[in-house]
Amino acid sequence: MGSVVSCFSDILILAPIRGITNRNFRNELQRTFGGISSGLAPFITTREDGKVSEKLIQDTDPKSNLIESIPQILTKSASQFHQVATILKNCGHKKINLNLGCPYPMVATKGKGSGMLSDPKKVEELLAGILKVADYELSVKLRLGRESSKEFEKLIPILNDLSIKDITIHPRTGIQMYGGKVDIESFDKILPQLNTIPCYNGDLTTLEDYTRLKGRYPQITRWMIGRGALINPNLFTDISDGKGSAIDLDKIKNFIISVGEHHLNTPNGKSDFLHRMRESWEYLCKNFEQEKKVYKLITKSKSIDHYNDNIKKIFSGQFQAK
Ligand SMILES: Cc1cc2nc3c(=O)[nH]c(=O)nc-3n(C[C@H](O)[C@H](O)[C@H](O)COP(=O)(O)O)c2cc1C
Repeated sequence: MGSVVSCFSDILILAPIRGITNRNFRNELQRTFGGISSGLAPFITTREDGKVSEKLIQDTDPKSNLIESIPQILTKSASQFHQVATILKNCGHKKINLNLGCPYPMVATKGKGSGMLSDPKKVEELLAGILKVADYELSVKLRLGRESSKEFEKLIPILNDLSIKDITIHPRTGIQMYGGKVDIESFDKILPQLNTIPCYNGDLTTLEDYTRLKGRYPQITRWMIGRGALINPNLFTDISDGKGSAIDLDKIKNFIISVGEHHLNTPNGKSDFLHRMRESWEYLCKNFEQEKKVYKLITKSKSIDHYNDNIKKIFSGQFQAK
């Protein structure tokens, strides 16, 4: 009897979604659904006074993460990056990611995240400043530009000259936020000009999306997936197995209950429990025929007990999967 050998060898990376894909979520996702090669953790911001969130540092602790979780830093200062990166390095991390993609006006108007992309000189200064002192590998996650994809043209020689090897590109501009379409045509043009093969990120939500994108970019081997996996947590396995699966509501139920229980066991877990669960349900509700009704049950939950009652209702059989 011949055994079935999977020949899938691409790398599937869980994207950082601040407020949702924390350690607890990443661990439960891998435990329940599997298929994730590694993850990028949501960003840690730096501060002038050098203070840094202990909770966020612990979130990427290699000893308590089931999947390798690369930490990400959001900053416009090379010295502040290095300061936080050194703490992370001392926790066992070999690679640290720089966020040059965050589109939120509160971040971008301060020249951080995607807000820096329209100023290639600043990008060069930041990257060169970090590389001068870095005793860890630097990876970068970025968009096509702040206002226009044309901004990327000036970033290409910087990324090439500084030999940044690990680049993830989300082919949208900052002002696009998360709306509109990914700009595949601009990505097409960028790809052959880079000295490295980037990781692709953006709107990969089904096995069919992966097959289409892999057909277009056979040379790309690393794929970062965010919102698609928040809706269908089995997406990584669907892709690596090469066969889609029907949404398994029982598995989703076990998963989200575990995420909730673990969250309640974290310090202050009770105080932001409803908020955290709501953020996950914004995506999970899309698996139900009556997604609006399901989401409303979550948003109308007034207490943890009320939420738990509503979870029972949602999975009682009364609401069908799409
Ligand atoms: C609510 C939210 C929070 C996010 N937080 C981060 C973050 O902390 N760091 C980051 O690099 N990208 C962040 N992103 C962007 C995602 O990682 C990803 O680049 C984007 O959603 C596109 O990929 P997707 O279409 O697979 O979701 C966030 C996106 C959303 C919607």
